[in-house]
Amino acid sequence: MKLKNKTVDRLKKDYGNWALVTGATSGIGKALATKLAEAGFNLVITGRRETQLNSLSTEFFDQYNVESIPIVGDLSRKEAVDSLLEETNHLSIGIVILNAGFGTSGKFVNSDIQNELNLVDLNCKAVLQMSHHFCNKMKDETRKGAIVLLSSMVAFQGVPNAANYGASKAYIQSFGEGLARELKPFGIDILCAAPGPVKSGFADRANMNMGMSLLPEDIAIPIIKAIGKKSTLLPGFLTKFLVYSLRLLPRWGKIRVMEKVMGGFTKHQK
Ligand SMILES: NC(=O)c1ccc[n+]([C@@H]2O[C@H](COP(=O)([O-])OP(=O)(O)OC[C@H]3O[C@@H](n4cnc5c(N)ncnc54)[C@H](OP(=O)(O)O)[C@@H]3O)[C@@H](O)[C@H]2O)c1
Repeated sequence: MKLKNKTVDRLKKDYGNWALVTGATSGIGKALATKLAEAGFNLVITGRRETQLNSLSTEFFDQYNVESIPIVGDLSRKEAVDSLLEETNHLSIGIVILNAGFGTSGKFVNSDIQNELNLVDLNCKAVLQMSHHFCNKMKDETRKGAIVLLSSMVAFQGVPNAANYGASKAYIQSFGEGLARELKPFGIDILCAAPGPVKSGFADRANMNMGMSLLPEDIAIPIIKAIGKKSTLLPGFLTKFLVYSLRLLPRWGKIRVMEKVMGGFTKHQK
């Protein structure tokens, strides 16, 4: 499926024709970058895997005739974030999608603390720094700007067996909700996209066995369509079903349900 012309026209009129997607080498970021390229946006795409980034960049040029700038870097390192911001500073990027992130799972007492700290560096600190940079740049532009943050359905309650990952997404959700109100007067739209389970590289790296899941392609169009329209989106039917079915429970009840769900996802670890 393609983005409708009406949506593309609205997005280009409001935000111009440059977008940035972090974590574009696989999964959700790749699907978002591909849909934007197909719609004629020029792109900055990032990731650590240089070969994947370069071939995606070539594909975007060959198939959609758009310019795309691949920037390789480990965004859990502040120096890499600094250099990404420096390298893109001359561009007028209207849509910034801060998607790069990863998960961990299992008992926190047994976790590798360096990996957990690295998760906070990538999922929270890098997003904080990039949001600060881009909202300051966007507020001085004559047209609007948009920042999309990748939250998750795990953001809405504590998550036993993925406590640090859940907390990192709760940070993103809360940060985005606050910024959405604060930045509206500057013409900056914030969208927190909070998917349920999605089939991507995520589960392998997080060491989770997720059951039913959405495809990145299923949620890319709803996320892009929601830019400038909503501040939080639960993309895909499965996400809505899972989040709404928990909604009537008290917070402690949701935590118990998430414990069961994540217990299932991590059963193989026992
Ligand atoms: N999959 C799900 O069930 C799900 C659900 C809700 C939210 N999310 C969120 O969606 C986002 C995308 O995840 P995904 O499911 O698409 O997973 P994915 O397929 O593993 O993609 C993650 C992307 O982030 C990049 N990345 C990872 N570590 C990085 C680092 N240190 N520096 C720079 N880039 C890095 C990866 O590129 P390289 O490997 O090339 O660096 C890759 O392009 C994440 O923020 C995740 O938390 C995922």
